[in-house]
Amino acid sequence: MTDVTLLNKQFGIPGVAQIVTGNGGLPAVQVTNTNDGTTGTIYLHGGHVTAWKPAENQEVLWCSKNSWWEPDKPIRGGVPICFPWFGAREGDATAPSHGFARILPWELESVNSQSGEVTVVVSLKSSTATRKYWPDKFLLRHRVTFGPELVMQLELTNLGNTPMIVEEAQHTYFHVGDVRQIRITGLENVKYISSVENVRDKSHAHAIVIEAETDRRYVNTTGTIVLEDRSLNRRITLKRHNSKTAVVWNPWIAKAKAMPDFSDEEWPEMMCIETANVRELPAKVGPQETHVMASRISVQSM
Ligand code: BG6
Repeated sequence: MTDVTLLNKQFGIPGVAQIVTGNGGLPAVQVTNTNDGTTGTIYLHGGHVTAWKPAENQEVLWCSKNSWWEPDKPIRGGVPICFPWFGAREGDATAPSHGFARILPWELESVNSQSGEVTVVVSLKSSTATRKYWPDKFLLRHRVTFGPELVMQLELTNLGNTPMIVEEAQHTYFHVGDVRQIRITGLENVKYISSVENVRDKSHAHAIVIEAETDRRYVNTTGTIVLEDRSLNRRITLKRHNSKTAVVWNPWIAKAKAMPDFSDEEWPEMMCIETANVRELPAKVGPQETHVMASRISVQSM
């Protein structure tokens, strides 16, 4: 059991960032006061950012009201960290979907406030729990800065003597007014693969609109992605660093119904756009090297 009082003594910054007992009794760092009134939350479970609300804006991230908040289950919403595999693990139907990082407790390393922004660093080190699935020795850090922008750096250090090849994603759930009214730009003329549409190497010249279940992996793309949300009158900009895959996902009606941790009527409120290195383009990290993949998110009014 994590002692929240002890963590708060060690890392809390009065009036700025507190370590709290969050949903399901899981410990979280709650940022309550940056210079401009931005707030945010990161759970130690999964190193998982669940909230970010820049001043004078609505919440940018989405979380399901049916989410599990349990030590061995993933949180539905916010920014799950998928690592070291994405989706189902090939050849092992019992392995957790999207890897083990999002269902393990991470350690709180530091909380710092500078120039009105708050940076929280959490980490996951290889252990008997990770070696059960994955042989590599590693240190995975999530360095998250809550400010006028949300900056999330996923830093993987290979502590072993052989190269590591892993899949990784910041599986961001964005809160939208109505997914049927959004447009996503920045992925025009990029090849994508979709098992839902049963296509490979397809592309389009126009902005993405969501009219059905959408589950696409855009390959070999590093550009900025913009989500235009007319119903909330805002534009969310996602800049990716060291990410060559972008996943775009909305479960639509039937899939939402089939998920126990996702309420039936919630699918219009969310859209996932994921900063990733997966499948044909995994991350490769040499012995003793550190690889950093990052997302920088900002919001503009329309
Ligand atoms: C997306 C995948 O990244 O995550 C989808 O592309 C998947 O195929 C979705 O359904 C949710 O996965 P999970 O394991 O959180 O239910």
